[in-house]
Amino acid sequence: MRHFLDIDDLQPSDLARILNLATTRNPPPVLAGKGASLLFEKPSARTRSSTEMAVVQLGGHPTYIGPAEVGLDERESVEDVTRTLACYSAVIGARVFDHRTVKRMAAVSAVPVINLLSDAAHPTQAVADLLTIRAARGHLEGRVLAYVGDANNMARSLAYAAGLSGMAVRIASPPGYEFSEADLRRMRRRGCEPVQVQKPAEAVSGADVVYTDVWTSMGQEEEAEQRRKDFAGFRVDRRLMARAAAGAVFMHCLPAHRGEEVASTVMDGPSSLVWPQAANRMHAARGLLLWLMEQV
Ligand code: CP
Ligand code: NVA
Repeated sequence: MRHFLDIDDLQPSDLARILNLATTRNPPPVLAGKGASLLFEKPSARTRSSTEMAVVQLGGHPTYIGPAEVGLDERESVEDVTRTLACYSAVIGARVFDHRTVKRMAAVSAVPVINLLSDAAHPTQAVADLLTIRAARGHLEGRVLAYVGDANNMARSLAYAAGLSGMAVRIASPPGYEFSEADLRRMRRRGCEPVQVQKPAEAVSGADVVYTDVWTSMGQEEEAEQRRKDFAGFRVDRRLMARAAAGAVFMHCLPAHRGEEVASTVMDGPSSLVWPQAANRMHAARGLLLWLMEQV
C-alpha cells in the first residue's frame, strides 16, 4: 500500500504518473461509496476545499475533522485515531504540526495516508506547482526555479519535486534560515540538492520561475517580529523579478503576507501564477488519490 508523506518517497516515474493522472479526463470513480477522513490540526482554505472537491469528483465522501474534535495524543493516541478512521475511510489526509505524526499514522494505517502539510513538508502543494509550471512553460526539465525566503516545509517539498522533474533549483535564504546539512545530504542522495546562494538577486538571475512563501509559517507565530527583521531584503518585488529570465513566472503557495515576502505589484502582476496554482490544488489532489488507489 502506498502513502504520500513527502515527495522524496517517490520515484521520478511516480511523480510523472501522478501529474498525468491529475490531468486525466473522466477519471474513474475510485472512491465511489467510500469515505476520506481529512484531519486538520492547523487552518486551511485551499488544501481542505481542494481535497474535499477531489474526493467528491472521484465519487467519495470527505469528512473534515477539526483540531478540537480529535485531540491527537490528548483524547486518544495518534495511532488509535488512525485505526478508528481507517474503519470508515479509504484514505486519511492529515495536516499536522509535527511531521512525526503523519509517520506514526502511516505506520499503523490500514489505508493510505496523505500529508496535507507538516512542519517538514507540503507535498500536495508541490505537485500542484509542477502542474502549474508545466502548463505555463510547456515542460519542466531544464527549467530553473529560484526560491527566495525561508527554507521551510514548502521549500523542501518543492526542491524534491523540482529536482525529481529535472529542474534546477537555486535558493536564497537569510543566515540561520537555510536548509540544514541533514536536509542537504538527503537531497543530494536523491539528486535534488539546490544551489544555495546568499542574495535573492543571485538566485533569481535568469530563472524561469521565482517562488516565495511566508517568512513565518503556521506554528511559528511568536517568531514573527524577529523574522520580519531577519528577512529584510528578501521581498520579491518588481525590481527583483526584472532579474529573472524573459517570460519568468511568479509563484506563491498562499496565503501570502502582501508587503512582506511579496509586493502586491508582483502578486497581482502579469507574471503571477498564484491563482492557477490554487486551482491546480484540486487537480493535483485528484491525481494523488487516483495514484494511491491504484495499489489498494
Ligand atoms: N497553500 C495552502 O496549503 O493553503 P491553505 O493553508 O489555505 O490550505
Ligand atoms: N510554510 C507555510 C505554508 C502554508 C501553506 C506554513 O507552513 O504555514
